[in-house]
Amino acid sequence: MTSGESALARSGADMICSVAKHMARGKFISFEGLDGCGKSTQLEKLAGALRRQGIDVVTTREPGGTELGERIRAVLLSSRTAGLDPHAEMALMFASRAQLIADVVLPALEAGKWVVCDRFTDSTEAYQGGGRQLGGEGVLRLHEVLCGGVWPDLTILMDSEVSSSVSRARRRNKSAEQDENRFEKESGAFFTRVHETFLEIARREPQRVVLIDARPPIEVVHEEIVRVVKERFLLMI
Ligand code: TYD
Repeated sequence: MTSGESALARSGADMICSVAKHMARGKFISFEGLDGCGKSTQLEKLAGALRRQGIDVVTTREPGGTELGERIRAVLLSSRTAGLDPHAEMALMFASRAQLIADVVLPALEAGKWVVCDRFTDSTEAYQGGGRQLGGEGVLRLHEVLCGGVWPDLTILMDSEVSSSVSRARRRNKSAEQDENRFEKESGAFFTRVHETFLEIARREPQRVVLIDARPPIEVVHEEIVRVVKERFLLMI
């Protein structure tokens, strides 16, 4: 073999290796939407459908998903947490996310598993950027620095009506054992800003973010989500 031929053989082998690596990498799907829009139910149903197809799925949530993240979640969501500065709130969301990416998301994707995550950086843009009016630019800059360019392959944005979603979340959290009420205490104007920011993100990134009407019955919404996932990843579910 000449040196030219062996270089060619090497680059061919490298290419096969990188294609194999690429093929083995799992997919990352996030669910977004207002509190009480039904995304956690839909997330579990999608994970079930994927598992029935033999796909190894890891489900997780934000804030939380790791031991440290769950401790940060308790601080962020407890109604006893008073006087938390909006910038500190945003920093804690990113602290939880950075830990989740390092401990859960990247190891799972690299092992060929699929990750389905309840909320990701779009929530920070919508709640802290929009709701708290800190603006989206800083959120995206922090994401770049702290999350190393990790973005979902697909984001399911569950679109629901502001007042009914928030009342549902308030009812649910009132009867829950854990105190996760801090955000539900916010005003209708806050949630309207959150909702509008989610819609702006969907308009800005139509290739990643798919808007799903969350109002029809659970099974109808589930079928629509499965259709989107099948189409996006060319699955035969
Ligand atoms: P979640 O557990 O998804 O609440 P729900 O089931 O009611 O939708 O999310 C917890 C809360 O944290 C929710 O009110 C949104 C808020 N949040 C932010 O404000 N910023 C963020 O970056 C994330 C991930 C969540």
